[in-house]
Amino acid sequence: MLSKRDYEKQIAASRDKRMKWWRNARFGMFVHYGLHSVVGRHEWLQALEHVPVKEYEKLAKQFKPKPDAPREWAKLAKKAGMKYMVLTTRHHEGFSLWNSKANPYNSYNLCGQRDLVQEFVDACREFNLKIGFYSSLMDWHHPDGWECANNRDARIRFNDYIEAINTELLTQYGKIDILWYDVAQPLRSWEAWNSVEMNQRLRKLQPDIIINNRCWLDEDFGTPEEKIKVENRDWEACMTFNGISWGYLDSEQALPYSYSPQQILMMLRECTEGGGNLLLNIGAMPDGSVPPEAIEPLTTVGKWLKKNGKAVYGKQDRINGWHTGATKMSRQGNKVYAWVQIWPQGGKTCFAGWEAKLKSAKIFATGEKIEFTQKDTRILLTGLPSESPDPIANLTLVELEFCSKDPKNNLLGNNPQFKGNSLWS
Ligand code: GLC
Repeated sequence: MLSKRDYEKQIAASRDKRMKWWRNARFGMFVHYGLHSVVGRHEWLQALEHVPVKEYEKLAKQFKPKPDAPREWAKLAKKAGMKYMVLTTRHHEGFSLWNSKANPYNSYNLCGQRDLVQEFVDACREFNLKIGFYSSLMDWHHPDGWECANNRDARIRFNDYIEAINTELLTQYGKIDILWYDVAQPLRSWEAWNSVEMNQRLRKLQPDIIINNRCWLDEDFGTPEEKIKVENRDWEACMTFNGISWGYLDSEQALPYSYSPQQILMMLRECTEGGGNLLLNIGAMPDGSVPPEAIEPLTTVGKWLKKNGKAVYGKQDRINGWHTGATKMSRQGNKVYAWVQIWPQGGKTCFAGWEAKLKSAKIFATGEKIEFTQKDTRILLTGLPSESPDPIANLTLVELEFCSKDPKNNLLGNNPQFKGNSLWS
């Protein structure tokens, strides 16, 4: 077994190759589904209401996923322009959604022999989506799930249990692309979780797997949660669909808080410009259905990505310098994309601060050329259509192609009262 230092050196060496598809993917679907979905009062239900294990276990009798529920998730993910999915195979409640020998408390044994993980994997493969398994370290069902913090033998037993269930996940279902750990509590160090040794063994089972940073090791990517925070490493912002709960909440009540297509696209822009990914969650309903409030927004986002996705997927470059105001931007090499939400009236608009020479301007989705004048650092676009050319989400990408492959924006740098050339006449 490698030391932590040597292990981290080893996985860093293969990271670019393993992460290539993930860095280009940009957009994935998170699915929270489990016994908590039956009740629909948040995925932390057992803790929030201090439900004793014996009482909570009874929910298994009411857990009746409809046939093809995972296929419904995958079909929508594909339609939404998502490239991968992550399923909660076992959440903090400790209930496994697969035919597990290590954990008899599972959907196969207790809910009509449903191996939902198998169904999920089959659906992802049908729709050509990469496959991620969320695996909680915290466990409110296993007798050592809490005792492990107070007692060495319990910790060793619990470490073995966690590794056994993750070994099942990584050996019973073919090629798996992401292992998504969550809440490494109550043990509070990689040593206590035996993460370095466990992850070495798990990586041997799936050499191309990508692992997140929630096992007290940095591993392959950071996971800012419910916020989009650009990190100086690979990162993926995981977001609920409503800012409130990962697990299912009553759709009527959740609807006013659920994201619109525009809100999702603006999150996607921040991830695109920041060089990270957006993992957007659906909390599946008690029977596994996609919550209705997610269908139209995700379908609209998918239609928009069909037209504009080339500027969103794939390698991105940070914008050098400031870009603020009503129109936020992203960049790929010498092309800067203005994500115009509020379409300018009067047929013209101006972008300032760009120090590079502008070669062309166009409506990205249609290729329609835009006239422009550039004086020093001011670019005036004229002859614009009166309405936003984007009929899908009222969000038009304007492509500005510069002569320099690394155009810099110096919005305030050339201040002297913004010089003298007049463009507004
Ligand atoms: C937090 C929550 C957990 C959820 C996870 C998703 O860890 O505790 O319920 O699954 O975020 O990132």
